[in-house]
Amino acid sequence: MIDGWYAPPLSGDDARPWSVDQLSDYLATGFQQDHGAAAGPMAETTLNLRQASPSDIEAIAVYTASLSDGNEQKMTPIDNQNIEVSPSTHSLWVGACANCHEQETGVGPSNALPLSISAALRQSSSANAVRTIVDGIASYRDDGGPYMPAFGDILTNEEIVKLSQYLRRRYSDEGQWSGLEDEISKARSSADGKE
Ligand code: HEC
Repeated sequence: MIDGWYAPPLSGDDARPWSVDQLSDYLATGFQQDHGAAAGPMAETTLNLRQASPSDIEAIAVYTASLSDGNEQKMTPIDNQNIEVSPSTHSLWVGACANCHEQETGVGPSNALPLSISAALRQSSSANAVRTIVDGIASYRDDGGPYMPAFGDILTNEEIVKLSQYLRRRYSDEGQWSGLEDEISKARSSADGKE
């Protein structure tokens, strides 16, 4: 854990497989179209890497890609569309999230990926999904980089719990997260106090 975010071991199942080109792109810009946006401390890291030379970034990418099996460079989409969901949670999803996240192909103007290939929703820890929902993704790029609004002030804890459980069931084949309430409280206090 770093600043409340979960940094998955790059050789383990919680990290996605990356190619050298994908990593170079991601490290240099903070965004890669098959993998999504850097968030939390990783966003700061990619911002700082703007000062690194392309050959240094390439070298980091070559090493990092060697830590995982680089053959499979995309997540296999998971979308259990037909699971049961309460009408209130479904309307939250449709009203607040689906516009950006449900398109089947490519990325919309805000650079959101379909959550069917989300790594955060498949990870053993709910930390990254919860923090992304509470804090959003700040667009620090001047060319209209990835952007997601912060929902911490808009949604209640209960709504975030229900939404997270729905997305976990719909977009992963993993068991339900425990301790979501705690994770939301932690995300709220670090968002306020910037720990
Ligand atoms: C204005 C567009 C927009 C809206 C609305 C939006 N998001 Fe996002 N979201 C993004 C972008 C951009 C990213 C970063 C790129 C990516 O990974 O898709 C992101 C990332 C995420 C991630 C992390 C994905 C990963 O694996 O890294 C989750 C989870 C998520 N959003 C959930 C939600 C939920 C839940 C809602 C509704 C409450 C929502 N989003 C609304 C744009 C949006």
